Amino acid sequence: DPQNHQMEDIGSLGRLNCRAKGGASGFKVAILGAAGGIGQPLALLMKMNPLVSVLHLYDVVNTPGVTSDISHMDTGAVVRGFLGQQQLEEALIGMELVIIPAGVPRKPGMTRDDLFNINAGIVKTLCEGIAKCCPNAIVNVISNPVNSTVPIAAEVFKKAGTFDPKRLLGVTMLDVVRANTFVAEVLGLDPRDVDVPVVGGHAGVTILPLLSQVKPSCSFTPKEVDYLTDRIQNGGTEVVEAKAGAGSATLSMAYAAVKFADACLRGLRGDSGVVECAFVASQVTELPFFASKVRLGRTGVEEIHPLGPLNEYERTGLEKAKKELAASIQKGVTFIRK
Ligand code: NAI
Repeated sequence: DPQNHQMEDIGSLGRLNCRAKGGASGFKVAILGAAGGIGQPLALLMKMNPLVSVLHLYDVVNTPGVTSDISHMDTGAVVRGFLGQQQLEEALIGMELVIIPAGVPRKPGMTRDDLFNINAGIVKTLCEGIAKCCPNAIVNVISNPVNSTVPIAAEVFKKAGTFDPKRLLGVTMLDVVRANTFVAEVLGLDPRDVDVPVVGGHAGVTILPLLSQVKPSCSFTPKEVDYLTDRIQNGGTEVVEAKAGAGSATLSMAYAAVKFADACLRGLRGDSGVVECAFVASQVTELPFFASKVRLGRTGVEEIHPLGPLNEYERTGLEKAKKELAASIQKGVTFIRK
């Protein structure tokens, strides 16, 4: 690949050849699906993240262009592009964090589960590569349906003997980002000052905002609770309909993905008190996977927070969520075990 050669030649010829291989500090991060609607702005934002020293961009199309473009940004991370299945392993070797936004997005009228047939196979292939080339990496799964693709990833890693539940995280951060935004709007606050826990999963009724636990502490009328719950659960569909066939959330998702990846990297670095919601292997409920607040540290998910006190509205929502989640998890597990 001429573009990578050019970068490496210049790096090795550089007079002060101290960061040609990524410098002393910072983490090595790969984005799989980097040329897509999410992948491109995600690559842009990760190139701006000071915690990233090396950024690998992998896709089955268009990575040379995206890589060339992003590599001209005068930020610290060294960017390398990888194109096509035959370069997957090279893209993954040595990575400490792998972010997966590969796969097809929804069109109007589709549920996330309608994406299963295509995306399940994509996630399986990518996770086989991770198990082989960077089995100790933290993995952030964005590809939908997250409620099934995370169990798929877990099964692939189990088969390979590399599964560590602390290092596999489904990204539900966009649900939290939306919840913070919509709740702030109702309360008349700056969204940066609002923290809404969102638990369960990442599809329809499995998205369970815990409005009784919003910080700063506040109360909502029953009408506000109905409005907010519905808007948070269907925020994705709102975007899919507005884009009218051109895809689903990409820009807000890239923002959310970077917010989450940055938390994972701060945890890896050893920062204390890094807590975010994520869909992980969990014993918070009887289900094998569940999204809730988790504390991120040097080894990944170091602690899973309990759900805390739920009101009756939330307890009813939880039962509904668990029913759909159980089926989605089982569907993912069966896809690999069949
Ligand atoms: P897109 O179609 O714009 O981009 C997907 C990219 O994946 C394309 O560049 C495509 O070439 C690439 N790709 C396909 N097969 C691949 C393979 N085998 N290996 C590597 N790359 C491959 O889609 P978009 O909008 O970026 O969405 C990506 C995924 O993210 C979808 O499944 C979507 O449902 C999901 N998503 C998840 C959200 C979440 O909150 N977790 C929010 C929004 C979207």
